[in-house]
Amino acid sequence: MTEAVLLVGGQGTRLRPLTINTPKPMLPVAGVPFTVHQITRARDAGVSRIVLATSYKAEVFRSFIDDADLGIEVVIATEDEPLGTGGAIRHALPHLQSGPDDPVLIFNGDVLSGLDIDGLVRHHRETGSDVTLYLTPVEDPRAYGLVPTDADGRVTAFLEKPQTPEEIVTDQINAGCYVFRRSVIDRIPAGRPVSVERETFPGLLSDGALVTGVVDRGYWLDLGTPLSFVQGSCDLVSGRAPSPAVASTGDALVLAGAQVAASAVVRGGSVIGRDAVVGPDAVVDGSVVFDGAEVAEGARVLGSIVGVGAVVGAGSSIRGAVIGDGAVIGRGNELLDGVRVWPGARLGDTSVRFSSDA
Ligand code: GDD
Ligand code: MG
Repeated sequence: MTEAVLLVGGQGTRLRPLTINTPKPMLPVAGVPFTVHQITRARDAGVSRIVLATSYKAEVFRSFIDDADLGIEVVIATEDEPLGTGGAIRHALPHLQSGPDDPVLIFNGDVLSGLDIDGLVRHHRETGSDVTLYLTPVEDPRAYGLVPTDADGRVTAFLEKPQTPEEIVTDQINAGCYVFRRSVIDRIPAGRPVSVERETFPGLLSDGALVTGVVDRGYWLDLGTPLSFVQGSCDLVSGRAPSPAVASTGDALVLAGAQVAASAVVRGGSVIGRDAVVGPDAVVDGSVVFDGAEVAEGARVLGSIVGVGAVVGAGSSIRGAVIGDGAVIGRGNELLDGVRVWPGARLGDTSVRFSSDA
């Protein structure tokens, strides 16, 4: 039996305002909460029990898991105060049934990847590692944990979010999935915040523990920012990213009850949520439209997220923007790169005439 801990307690600050009411791993991606993609991938790799390490908005996970049947045992652990990534792993320990030398998988809760999970566990066993890390090369590693390895694949340092150019010693980053020997979890201090990246990993290296890395060059994405969230969703819909929770892939996913006008164009892996409406001549490209939202006649939504029940008025154009739940964008507005509209906010109509006003 292989057990896993899924770290889902972060506040998802970079995805505000979407994460004000919904924790990041519970945001819908390709029709289901993001966490379902991760849980079903782990299940298919042979994980039979998963501990959800929750903190922020734990009740949202609890009510979902109570009703869901994901074909795997899911246990919820909740920290009273956020304990950080290492503290959350330690807090999950009483919920684990593995023996001291058994491998326990740890997943960051916002990573979409094509990793061969079973292969990572095999590597961990074969090398007799204390901890095995999944690594991936990225173009700009500054937003991540840098993990250089030697010729034998042994991790030589761990540099979380490097600040100076001298610290950028590799393009290999911590891809957010580890195998821990269970007894290594026992040694993480309990009852206080611990960062696995800033404290546990560097500590293991200075204690001479065997920490190895497996570099995988397949699909990898951290869905922590609005741009990457949209990208991940589109990649799942179009089949570029693998998930057992996506039944069929294509140019768009239109969920039950949604109405898309015949003259509208929905493409680029976009999702149109349940009961959402896309009006005549509207274009939704590479975007996520949440349940009950409306993209009115002639509006253009590119690379953006439209929150639950939000409205993009006729002829408005939004690109690279996040519209919070229930917000209303009047007619003829233009919202570009990086704009975030808070839930329930209202933007009036502009005086620009919309073409069908004539
Ligand atoms: N339970 C619990 N409690 N979970 C937490 C806590 C906590 O206090 N803090 C963070 N998490 C969870 C988040 O929900 C997320 O799933 C995961 O831990 C990582 O946190 P992020 O906030 O997403 O970290 P990051 O993206 O800046 O960096 C991490 O991931 C990168 C790869 O995506 C680090 O692990 C980097 O080293 C790594 O490169
Ligand atoms: Mg992240």
